Amino acid sequence: MVKKISSSVFISGDGSNLKSILKNSRDYNFPIKIGLIISNNIRAYGLKYARKYNIPFKFYSSDNKDLFERNCLAELRKKRIKFLCLAGFMKKLSKKFIKNFGYKIINIHPSLLPRFKGLNTQKRVLKSKEKYTGCTVHYVTPELDSGKIILQKKILIKKNDTENSLKKRVLIQEHKLYPKAIRLVFKWLFLKKKIYFSFRVL
Ligand code: GRF
Repeated sequence: MVKKISSSVFISGDGSNLKSILKNSRDYNFPIKIGLIISNNIRAYGLKYARKYNIPFKFYSSDNKDLFERNCLAELRKKRIKFLCLAGFMKKLSKKFIKNFGYKIINIHPSLLPRFKGLNTQKRVLKSKEKYTGCTVHYVTPELDSGKIILQKKILIKKNDTENSLKKRVLIQEHKLYPKAIRLVFKWLFLKKKIYFSFRVL
């Protein structure tokens, strides 16, 4: 049995990636357990998974970003959270927050980064007439969708794909890719024998 690292997932919406992480975290050798879910949207559908899986959750408004980040840090500290997964979390985190958290934050994006950073991804992908698209799990840095890439999955764009069909097909891949990337991050860490989880602040 591995000693699971206490982690948190940040969401803003549907939470389908959260659901996939939660399902995987039940596996005895999955490296993390989810000890806290944070949403900046009180109506996020994904919060229903917090209730279903009986995971503590918090809503903090991100209208005031500084206050939002201070609230999050206090709660993350309280719950001794060591690792963050952003999953459809629609707010950019500040450099101060990321630094304070020791850069142990990852995110998923529905494109083959560095192509198509930012919002309205599938619309831009379709317009570009690319042959392939996909999804990427990457480390979070203050610059949007720009941190080191951990893992990517490539898929073929079909001739009759619409924004919606592409979004759905990419999302199916995301649900497999995110847990894989989490396993990989911890495999690397343990291989390198880094004392990665001794924190300055948290
Ligand atoms: C996903 O496509 C993710 O890549 C992007 O936002 C979407 C969130 O979906 N960042 P969900 O909330 O996990 O269902």
